[in-house]
Amino acid sequence: MNNQDIINEVRRKNDIVDIIGEKIPLEKRGKNYFGVCPFHDDTNPSMSVSREKQIYTCFSCHATGNVFNFLMNYEHKDFSQVLTDLATRVGITLNGIKTKKISTKYNDWYNIYDIANKFYQNNLMSKEGSRAREYLKKRSIDEDTIKEFEIGYSLKDHDSLTKLLQKKGYSLDLLNKVGISVNDYDIYHLRLMFPLHDLSGKVIGFSGRIITDSKQNKYLNTKETDLFKKGQLLYHYHIAKEAARIDKSVIIMEGFMDIIRASTIDVKNTVATMGTALTHDHIKNIKRLSNNIILCFDGDEAGVKATLAAGEMFAKENLEVKVISLNNNDDPDTYILKNGKEAFLNLIENAIYFSDYKIKTLSQGRNLTSSEDKANYIHEVLEEAAKITDPIRTEIILKELAKKFEIGYNTLEKSFQELKATKTKKQEVVIEKKTASKGKKDKYQKASFCIIYYMLNEQDIIESVEREHLVFPTEALRALESEIVYFYHKYGFINEADFYTYLTPKIELVNLLAEIMQLQLKSKVTSKELLDYFNVIKEYNEKMSITKLEEKIKNTNDPLEQIKYAEQIRKLRIGEK
Ligand code: UTP
Ligand code: MN
Repeated sequence: MNNQDIINEVRRKNDIVDIIGEKIPLEKRGKNYFGVCPFHDDTNPSMSVSREKQIYTCFSCHATGNVFNFLMNYEHKDFSQVLTDLATRVGITLNGIKTKKISTKYNDWYNIYDIANKFYQNNLMSKEGSRAREYLKKRSIDEDTIKEFEIGYSLKDHDSLTKLLQKKGYSLDLLNKVGISVNDYDIYHLRLMFPLHDLSGKVIGFSGRIITDSKQNKYLNTKETDLFKKGQLLYHYHIAKEAARIDKSVIIMEGFMDIIRASTIDVKNTVATMGTALTHDHIKNIKRLSNNIILCFDGDEAGVKATLAAGEMFAKENLEVKVISLNNNDDPDTYILKNGKEAFLNLIENAIYFSDYKIKTLSQGRNLTSSEDKANYIHEVLEEAAKITDPIRTEIILKELAKKFEIGYNTLEKSFQELKATKTKKQEVVIEKKTASKGKKDKYQKASFCIIYYMLNEQDIIESVEREHLVFPTEALRALESEIVYFYHKYGFINEADFYTYLTPKIELVNLLAEIMQLQLKSKVTSKELLDYFNVIKEYNEKMSITKLEEKIKNTNDPLEQIKYAEQIRKLRIGEK
């Protein structure tokens, strides 16, 4: 058996209804099973799973694919990990399957970080770790939490970890590269050690905290490496994945002591950046956890600034986050320590929308005495309120504003409506431009979609497409068609589920295929209908040939050549070859 055969066998032996059914409740309705889609925020059962086709499809967010795609997205794993899991499940051995290659490149790195992680944890429990244990006790971090977060300690001597790793066969060169050693010395000394995990939970670096009041940097992080990028890492993400699904929300905090503290009161749907501003990479990954996002940053000025910046970034992505604001001298860690679990759950419950938070901060530190200051402030608030889509919320804001500044509600309401009208106009122009460029599908694209849809259902149609030398109107459609033809000839069959596996590395083609397969076409196509689709594409191909010939006529000065091309055009027009 070749690789693809083994992969297909793994897929076939892991029934998609069983696998998805273990993760989310599915209910049978007619031929298919339905459940609440885990890939977007929803409460309706908009995901259908087909036992017959071995495919899942969400009618709301358009997530789709086979059992591999589902687990890759659900468990945030790469293809080879999912393949290994599913193969193990059904007792298939994957000797020498090539997909493993991607992960072996960094196997040494992962082993080094694992050894270092265990080494630091042992140190903490050894005699030398007593001062660090005292520090943790003073900060009310108990044994269970130490274990859960794999907290460790780095030693005073120069090179015990470097030596240990060298003895295990890792070169100094590599130890320097992965950020564990500098020359032949250990990088970390006398620091509390926190392992940093990637999105899937593998250790890819450390952060070390001083435990004295010395003037060194409070935290020392592993340098940027192939695996550790500060602007991408989200502390605690691998744990938050599950928790966010259960709690249907995710809380973003600033520091990892905050995360650790929240975990002690069973709030585990939390992530933190490494003390950097949120990046688009962060946002992309956070959005995969939940659409219900709560910011809970430090209460100081820097925290307010960070909240405003983060809220705006999410707003640009059409997501209104919620905000918990703490007192000036608190962060989530100290707040929870002082006030306890119930109080913090209460804060989560009462988190306010970002626009309300912004309106609140607009008045802070401002001296609203002159009529000009007041008017400016009111306009800023109206600007914010105009972004809110819920009319009840805007009415509350306007009423409060009217009361606060003793202005007639109708006056406020009038300028608010004017402001909104100009905003909607601007938006309409943007939307028009967008739809014009993306456009509705023209008849050529529609016909191509239908043909490709049926190519995956009836293999004869693949052969007809080849025979007729149809050329589809876009690059992507042509690529998809040639992948279908290639797959069919290589394996002698085609079905949607196996074809998804094959296509998975080419994400644009997967998306295109998903779009096509979601057309609710009837299952059998008549030969008359198929002929019509073919003719549309042929018409397109003729049009393109004519355009090309016309170009050629324009580009030559030789009258004989021109006559030749004109004759070819004429023949195309009357349908001769
Ligand atoms: P904080 O100073 O808020 O850290 O910085 P913290 O988590 O509350 O830590 P404690 O309570 O003082 O022990 C927020 C985050 O910024 C990063 C760390 O990731 C930290 O969690 N940071 C901070 C650094 O990388 N280096 C530093 O020197 C300080
Ligand atoms: Mn802090």
